[in-house]
Amino acid sequence: MKFITVDSYDKMSRQAANIISAQVIIKPDSVLGLATGSTPIGAYKQLIKWYEKGDIDFSRVTSVNLDEYVGLDGHDEQSYRYFMNKNFFEHINIDLDNTYVPNGCAVDLQGEGKAYDEHIRQLGGIDLQLLGIGHDGHIGFNEPDDYFIKSTHVVDLHESTVKANARFFASEDEVPKRAITMGMVSIMQAKKILLIASGKEKREILEKSFYGPITPRIPASILQLHHDITVIYSEN
Ligand code: F6R
Repeated sequence: MKFITVDSYDKMSRQAANIISAQVIIKPDSVLGLATGSTPIGAYKQLIKWYEKGDIDFSRVTSVNLDEYVGLDGHDEQSYRYFMNKNFFEHINIDLDNTYVPNGCAVDLQGEGKAYDEHIRQLGGIDLQLLGIGHDGHIGFNEPDDYFIKSTHVVDLHESTVKANARFFASEDEVPKRAITMGMVSIMQAKKILLIASGKEKREILEKSFYGPITPRIPASILQLHHDITVIYSEN
């Protein structure tokens, strides 16, 4: 594991964008696993800038996102599909047909999970998975549990996650209480993982995740077993 500490959100974002852009330059048809939330926004902004300068070409890239709220369709401004379109995809030359986000409105959510995993398998797996981390150690929406859940599945969001995500909604009541998330197999089978985190309040969970015991009570701790993971942490 490489653990890089930097002193600003901006540096974390640029370093993350550098790693993602190197991946796309070396393998133009990369499968990128992408995350939402506030942490990756700066990296997406930087990648958009480099795209505009002509430095990166996303035309052959495929993306698979980690998660989506159950019950929100892609037109809903709070959905993760909408987030990805607005914060990244609409500003680069990725083919929208090659961008995948789990369908939180699928009638058969279990079937959607199976199909999502099968799709990732058919793509040959994820080349580079970008992750954020929740205060409780969740990655994607894999919440602390008695065991690690392997496949893409529906999850009841923990109260702390609902509270943390309420900042994106008009009120806490509006935060969906369920989500569909990639499970640990697709994440752990990614060829490379890049986890980014910023802010002093993330320090403790990072220490527990990467230097403590591996336990499903801290889902990110499983990443200690990954053979090629880089963590970039900015204290500020
Ligand atoms: C989002 C996701 C989540 C976030 C995590 C941190 O797709 O998978 O695990 O990465 O909740 O969120 P922020 O970046 O908002 O602190």
